[in-house]
Amino acid sequence: MLALLILSLLASAYAAPSHACTKAEDSPIDWRPKANETRVFRVGHDRNSGREIHVTIPPDFGKNSSEPAPLILAFHDKEMLPLELASASHLSDPNINRNAVVVYPLARNDTWQSDIVVRRWRKNIEQPEYADDIAFVSSIIDDLGSIICHDTSRVYATGMGTGGGLVNLLACDPALSTQITAFGIVAGGFGGRRHAPIWETCAPGRSPVPMLEVHGDEDRILPYFLNEWESAKRRRAVPAFLDEWSDLNGCGEPVGETMDARDATGTDVKVTKLSSGGWVSEGEAYNGGAWRLAKSCPGINGTAPKIEFKPGERLSAHDPEHFTLLHYRLKGFGHGWPLLRLKGADRVFDTTALLLDWFKIHKLPIHLALRVTPQTSTMRVPVDQAAAAVEAIREAGGDVQNVLKDAGDAARGANEGDDGADVADDADVDADDGADVADDADVDADDEPEHDEL
Ligand SMILES: *[C@@H]1O[C@H](CO)[C@@H](O)[C@H](O)[C@H]1NC(C)=O
Ligand SMILES: *[C@@H]1O[C@H](CO)[C@@H](O)[C@H](O)[C@H]1NC(C)=O
Ligand SMILES: *[C@@H]1O[C@H](CO)[C@@H](O)[C@H](O)[C@H]1NC(C)=O
Ligand SMILES: *[C@@H]1O[C@H](CO)[C@@H](O)[C@H](O)[C@H]1NC(C)=O
Repeated sequence: MLALLILSLLASAYAAPSHACTKAEDSPIDWRPKANETRVFRVGHDRNSGREIHVTIPPDFGKNSSEPAPLILAFHDKEMLPLELASASHLSDPNINRNAVVVYPLARNDTWQSDIVVRRWRKNIEQPEYADDIAFVSSIIDDLGSIICHDTSRVYATGMGTGGGLVNLLACDPALSTQITAFGIVAGGFGGRRHAPIWETCAPGRSPVPMLEVHGDEDRILPYFLNEWESAKRRRAVPAFLDEWSDLNGCGEPVGETMDARDATGTDVKVTKLSSGGWVSEGEAYNGGAWRLAKSCPGINGTAPKIEFKPGERLSAHDPEHFTLLHYRLKGFGHGWPLLRLKGADRVFDTTALLLDWFKIHKLPIHLALRVTPQTSTMRVPVDQAAAAVEAIREAGGDVQNVLKDAGDAARGANEGDDGADVADDADVDADDGADVADDADVDADDEPEHDEL
């Protein structure tokens, strides 16, 4: 009886997105999106200082009201415009992406909150103000969510270069890491959040957090390893970034023997069991054109299922749905969004296809997708997940009303907590500025040899 009552409560909340999703009264965006449209908006409650976003609506948008669209946030690199990322990545190409809405936000003054490398080669250019991109991204999801009616269990973030650094910051954020399902970074630059390095304040609100990274080993803008003159306090090299996410995802250390296996593409890989009960697979992919690392980890508190792997078994049964960490190191590739045939490879390395597959296999755990957002108070997940939702809520305490209320309070609390931390960060800034200028000068001199008058 109780279960039935809960189910019917949920069923009304799961009505077709056009009904479940009602535009918030104070939403700054006034729009009824249609398939194939592209629009530019300003997000934020002050229209004049609002931040610019470009939104592309895919061809299948609204075709099936039981399947709300996934939402992909795509963050551009330095010296790149939002639509340049759209053309480099083909993420909004209707032949590649039929159903996901893609949002391309514009960095303020070409600088994301996570940037460390601030180009100062023209001395008359002031150091740009860092914007609060965490708040910006939260309002994109809230404001746009009330209009797009996207699937709240399928919100993804990708970024290239410094935009990838921001994606890392989002994954480290206690609140956004529970709203964004999976993360995919291309040629990322992993730096500090102003003066506190990201890795010191990295506090994802869930574990594991699915993380994909692709990086050329000849990237000269954001090199795979640190340059000799670079301090590990300023930027994380890719191997350190991978180690940190391995820890945050509760992967543990390799234990026991390394076994020979084959991955889903028939590539020979070495598989080693991890102390967490997960496993790591490593191998040359694309006929040696890339090195692939994949980890399957149960999470800090062991929340994700552990996958048992037996010697000689083909990996495909577990591949890649259970990967929590996936990385490709591309041989001979520089800084960019890879779509090419790597040296010696028999097929094209297609970053966009890889990324869309990565996003497709990850869904936010249902108890997180069922959040009550402060603005809209609506829940949106596909109809077929209703039963799982009931189960999740019962496991979490059994009372639908209270669970939903708590979720709303938690979301609000996390936002307020974050604001407080920001104010504190800002207060510290001036004292450290001098040291930073010196660091930045170092970075730029090597980063941009053609401008090395510093
Ligand atoms: C959207 O574009 C596709 C081609 O990519 C076309 O088949 C479809 O009819 C268009 N839909 C609308 C509503 O214009
Ligand atoms: C619409 O989506 C639902 C849920 O995924 C699915 O069961 C149904 O077959 C879809 N309908 C059409 C016409 O594609
Ligand atoms: C940064 O951007 C803001 C608003 O977009 C602008 O008013 C300001 O002058 C810029 N500052 C710098 C140092 O570029
Ligand atoms: C793990 O469990 C502890 C104790 O229940 C909790 O405080 C912590 O937040 C959990 N961490 C994650 C990442 O879920």
